Amino acid sequence: MTTGTTALGERPAWKALAAHHQEIAGKHLRQLFADDPTRGQKFTAEFGGIFLDYSKNRITAETVKLLLQLAEESGLKARIEAMFTGEKINITENRAVLHVALRAKEGESILVDGVDQVPLVLAVLDKMAGFADRIRSGDWKGCTGKRIKNVVNIGIGGSDLGPVMAYEALKHYSQRDLTFRFVSNVDGTDFAETVVDLKADETLFLVASKTFTTLETMTNAHSAREWFLAGIGGDEAAVAKHFVAISTNAKEVSKFGIDTANMFEFWDWVGGRYSMDSAIGLSTMVAIGPENFRAMLDGFHQMDQHFRTTPFDKNLPVLIGLLTVWYTDFFNAQTVAVLPYEQYLKRFPAYLQQLTMESNGKHVTLDGKHVDADTGPIYWGEPGTNGQHSFYQLIHQGTRLIPCDFIGFYKTNNPLGRHHDMLMANVFAQAEALAFGKTAEEVKAEGVAEALIPHKVFEGNRPSNVILAEVLTPEVLGKLIALYEHAVFTQGTIWSIDSFDQWGVELGKVLATRILGELESADGKLTHDTSTNALIERYRANK
Ligand code: F6P
Repeated sequence: MTTGTTALGERPAWKALAAHHQEIAGKHLRQLFADDPTRGQKFTAEFGGIFLDYSKNRITAETVKLLLQLAEESGLKARIEAMFTGEKINITENRAVLHVALRAKEGESILVDGVDQVPLVLAVLDKMAGFADRIRSGDWKGCTGKRIKNVVNIGIGGSDLGPVMAYEALKHYSQRDLTFRFVSNVDGTDFAETVVDLKADETLFLVASKTFTTLETMTNAHSAREWFLAGIGGDEAAVAKHFVAISTNAKEVSKFGIDTANMFEFWDWVGGRYSMDSAIGLSTMVAIGPENFRAMLDGFHQMDQHFRTTPFDKNLPVLIGLLTVWYTDFFNAQTVAVLPYEQYLKRFPAYLQQLTMESNGKHVTLDGKHVDADTGPIYWGEPGTNGQHSFYQLIHQGTRLIPCDFIGFYKTNNPLGRHHDMLMANVFAQAEALAFGKTAEEVKAEGVAEALIPHKVFEGNRPSNVILAEVLTPEVLGKLIALYEHAVFTQGTIWSIDSFDQWGVELGKVLATRILGELESADGKLTHDTSTNALIERYRANK
């Protein structure tokens, strides 16, 4: 097992980066560009139509060299191989980490405990395709003989964010006479509003939960069952035509009352936040059809191969991952903004939040020690150009350093007059403004009053990546997601943390279960701290 490496601060490249940072921290991007007329071409990389311009980062060739050396010293190559070959690198749960197997091709073989997982994956994909085709064609009939018109995915976290994001991202490719909705929150409003205008006998529920024990999802699934039965006159036998399950837990699925013949399986080696291309993506497949879904998987697979085989200096996920480490640990940046200039990617930042923060929000190394550097930054963002009219002010003129990932496309799925050129002009303009800013002299030359000059200065020197692709297709989406998955892996490897567990979500769940009992019984002695006790009492008195 490839776990322990030298403590981060002891790695030679880390020490060299710390010294190098002293030299570079005072250098402006204006200067770095002036020093090297080829910079805009030099710091770029491309794979499979995904182009990365990372020249507007606060780096020199020396920075890149040292970051690549850090990757080597951190054992990245071996860790990648360990993941791809099914080693149990999720050590705290003793599990393999094999989302890459979800997009493996026929003929490949990936063993876990001596069993080849690829044929299992392909069999589930075929079963999903058969089901998706029947829903799409209207062949699958509801309990009154009508076709299914509405598909409601019930899930949360990875069983929701991926499906929602992919549905929104690929809406252009979706079958428009089907309605797709997503319920996640235990707040009853979410379920109530989702079904308010739906007819039960035309609605199919996909209950998506890896564990099939998640409180929110099970509560919503039970409410869906009650709503459905009330809507069709109580015939329990009808449930089979309107509820399917997506899970690793057949026992809990049948306990809920869903026939396991209507269950789409996946495996414990798929992390929730890495599962949108497993059976958890059933809603996506129903929406866009099996062929498009397979094209998306192909995009993932291409990026997987790129990550596994391309030298690190040309490896997109490695470069992006290392740059994030550079800003997080040496510039003390707290966040990364992901700014897609593509309306269809409006849920992409939310999706990335779970992927990045549940993966790398850790403070303990693989060998149980406190990590000696900052780990996972906060990811956030909104599609452009909307964000420009809200939070970009802070990115341009605030006191914090916020590295940005701009994502744009040469073409749009919805050509409309000058819209797309206007959209893309903003991508390039924002990255340029952030990097180069506007000096006091430039402001003054515009005739601005002396007192206003400081307010109108843009310091610049604010780093960004620009990621470009041709047009948002299922294949490109697969590549983009895999790009970030593997960038997260790269970061987690440098920090020597387990990017695949999520113990940090447990304590709140346990406390909520205990407090729920206390909210539902009017009396009983409360033994929390004085604040929590008082809040519970106030709620009990006013509910
Ligand atoms: O509570 C966090 C979490 O375990 C996520 O990691 C996961 O994606 C989500 O809950 C949903 O879990 P499940 O698919 O088992 O319902």
